[in-house]
Amino acid sequence: MTNQQSAEQPERSEAAIGGETLWHGRFESGPSEALLKYTVSLPYDQRLAPYDIMGSRAHVRGLARVDLLTKADAEAILVALDEVEAELASGDFVFVPSDEDIHTAVERRVTEIAGPAGARLHTGRSRNDQVATDLRLFVKDHMAMIAGQVVELARVLHDRAVEAGDAYLPGYTHLQRAQPVLLSHHLLAHFWTFRRDLTRLMAARDAADVSPLGAGALAGSTLPLDPDGNAEDLGFSSRFQNSLDVVSDRDYVADALYALTMIGVHLSRIGEEFVLWSSEEFGFLTVDDGYATGSSMMPQKKNPDIAELARGKGGRLIGHLTGLLATLKGLPLSYNRDLQEDKEGLFDGIDQISAGLAAVTGMIATATFRTEAMAKAADESAAGATDLADFLVRGGMPFRDAHAVVAAVVRDSIATGRPLAEVTAESDDLGADAAALLAPGVGIKLRTSPGASGPGPVASQLEAAAAALAEMTDLPA
Ligand code: ARG
Repeated sequence: MTNQQSAEQPERSEAAIGGETLWHGRFESGPSEALLKYTVSLPYDQRLAPYDIMGSRAHVRGLARVDLLTKADAEAILVALDEVEAELASGDFVFVPSDEDIHTAVERRVTEIAGPAGARLHTGRSRNDQVATDLRLFVKDHMAMIAGQVVELARVLHDRAVEAGDAYLPGYTHLQRAQPVLLSHHLLAHFWTFRRDLTRLMAARDAADVSPLGAGALAGSTLPLDPDGNAEDLGFSSRFQNSLDVVSDRDYVADALYALTMIGVHLSRIGEEFVLWSSEEFGFLTVDDGYATGSSMMPQKKNPDIAELARGKGGRLIGHLTGLLATLKGLPLSYNRDLQEDKEGLFDGIDQISAGLAAVTGMIATATFRTEAMAKAADESAAGATDLADFLVRGGMPFRDAHAVVAAVVRDSIATGRPLAEVTAESDDLGADAAALLAPGVGIKLRTSPGASGPGPVASQLEAAAAALAEMTDLPA
């Protein structure tokens, strides 16, 4: 078969063993220090090593299937890849200065170990389809990993909502006390946001689920490659349709960063609530000692640092997402080195969100809710004012008129400093029956409409959340 060249070692590979770049053959002189310093990605793309080895194995098997590699050469490379994998895992792998990136390093070492066969590893392959393959495998794995953590947080929110029973607090708009809500209802509000985050993570995973292997540098190959077989071998749902597109497509990285950033935004919002609620001014909760920090100077301090960092790190994620979008927006087809900038933000985003989910999940699981303070804040406030208007509406009054009547009573209460219930009882329009609606714990029970914050609808909501949770636990691997 003409595709099977003789197993003699080409000179170029010998040179590569000596520590030169993969592309030095075209150049008169070697790379400058400054170039290497600026362009190497090895310090961070080492993280792709397991996926690079996975991709290389599939590539070797693919070449063997179409007789571009003899069985013996394929076997020699696969054995070398096993060894490289072991060296990388144990930390025995020695990098050399010409290892620009993980792909170069792995190929160099395979060639050192496998000898002549190693020189055939890169047949029909470019680092452009290689890095895209690695990164897609990485994204698929890590979206699933983060999804597992999101499910854990959702589970804690659900469990704490069940535990919250009939505890209630003021619900807020504009951070002003507005209407009473059940604590379980409040916690479930966060539950649903994380359920949506899970959907986004799975969508990003699906976007990454296309194999680029076989696209070459940009235009495919003159060799009889088997991209469909490669896709199947690597567990991708399909292969690329267009080689130009797939070597330059980083939409799935943007999708992943968007999914992560939304989690970051949601963790930030919970963080802000925990900061407020744990303050003496609110006093709605106490953060467990294991999830709080102290002050080096003020002995009395107990600070909600996890909550604050959850808030702070949201900005960092937004930076990674917008940074990537800015990198992508000006790129002509197909591969451009700019695309190397796709990795650090993604890696950091995954690390930060993973650590944040673990910390916030623990913080919520162990916090003590101060339900008496919550109830007091709801009972003391004029949070029942809307209920008074609804009372008049039930008696036939147009809502706009009812609003005006109650507003006058509220104004009177504020001006005289007397409790709203007292002024309500004395009002000709309202009276004692209406005033009874303002008694502690009454307003919350009145909220009966579907999806409302009262005990009836929240019981149904808890059932829906439990069903959703069961479904969420059943994720694709
Ligand atoms: N380190 C590169 C990246 O992350 C790998 C691809 C290099 N391709 C190239 N044509 N120089 O994008």
